[in-house]
Amino acid sequence: MSHSYEYLEGMARQYAIQAVRHDKEGKFDDAIKNYKKATEILRNIIALYPENSLNNIYKQWIKEYEKRVKDLESMKLTITSQYPHTSNGDDIFNEVVFKEKPGVTFNDIADLIDVKEAIKEAIIYPTLRPDLFPLGWHRGILLFGPPGCGKTLLAAAVATEIDGVFIHLDAASVMSKWLGEAEKNVAKIFRKARELSQNGKPVIIFIDEVDSILGMYNSEVGGEVRVRNQFLKEMDGLLDKSFKFFIYVIAATNKPWRLDEAFIRRFQKRIFVPLPDKEARRELLKLYTNSLKLSDDVDIEKLADMLDGYTSSDIKDIVMAAHLRTIKELFEKYGRSGSPREVSLGDFINVIKIRKPSVTREAVKVYESWYEKFKAL
Ligand SMILES: Nc1ncnc2c1ncn2[C@@H]1O[C@H](COP(=O)(O)OP(=O)(O)O)[C@@H](O)[C@H]1O
Ligand SMILES: [Mg+2]
Repeated sequence: MSHSYEYLEGMARQYAIQAVRHDKEGKFDDAIKNYKKATEILRNIIALYPENSLNNIYKQWIKEYEKRVKDLESMKLTITSQYPHTSNGDDIFNEVVFKEKPGVTFNDIADLIDVKEAIKEAIIYPTLRPDLFPLGWHRGILLFGPPGCGKTLLAAAVATEIDGVFIHLDAASVMSKWLGEAEKNVAKIFRKARELSQNGKPVIIFIDEVDSILGMYNSEVGGEVRVRNQFLKEMDGLLDKSFKFFIYVIAATNKPWRLDEAFIRRFQKRIFVPLPDKEARRELLKLYTNSLKLSDDVDIEKLADMLDGYTSSDIKDIVMAAHLRTIKELFEKYGRSGSPREVSLGDFINVIKIRKPSVTREAVKVYESWYEKFKAL
């Protein structure tokens, strides 16, 4: 059994390696074919060996490959239609600027006290009282940590808290769409930000999943490198002492190890957004069960212990799933009338039993050691 498992895994790896190679060479059809084969084999492994401890990782790979296939397929469409989009700066700007405040505040974010404090010191205070910062302030702030622990949420809260312009660039989704124009568009966004900042209001450029800027494969050879260089150049422009306006770049990533040293150096402030600790898990549970009816046997303290190793987003999912059990029961037993029973400890335990943490312990260690290495850079 282990023999055929290794064989299958080896095959999946081979296909994935081929896919990435074709992808880099711009042979999109071949890349798509190989990503799909790799995905199929990984799915088979999961089906054949459901107890395999690596299945969570395989699932992540499947997700990444599928996303890449989707991006490549939409890219192919763009290429075959001969770049019909001749966008000017304002089009791009309309795509990325937040017109409405997202409405999330720091109070909606459980715990992360140190992180919130660091953000306040780095961004909120200098924008409110620049006179108190004669030595200047950090322009580049990097939020990193495991997925689902609040990085995007924190950036949204910053948008609410500042009186200024918030530009939200979801690098993962936008980079492939900007095929061939990514470098130009990055320059346009920074130009627009400089323009807007002249009114005296702060401008924040939030780049989510910033590692995709570096990992982006352009259709032209060397395109990938140029997007990165453009970005570094723009960052240096902001870091220039003579530049007195309020432009901040907040970047977030789940994969900090994909960033190279030159890139990391542009972000003088690096903030680790960790997995929730016991206190945080307790707060998250309270936050998300707040509007639910719980039965007396639900012990938040005990649940917080059980959920060690889970991400904030996992905890939210688990509460939702536990609640859903009562809703499902209501519909199955009584149709659509009546109200659901209280959510019990048993509901939570049932969900937790089948729901593993989405980040492994080993992965958490990798974040910590990355931080050790780069915090004093
Ligand atoms: N500290 C937190 N407090 C409350 N909810 C959280 C927190 N962290 C994450 N969540 C929940 O998980 C979801 C995903 O979090 P997100 O900010 O997108 O994670 P990241 O950007 O770090 O991958 C959020 O939309 C929110 O519902
Ligand atoms: Mg995010």
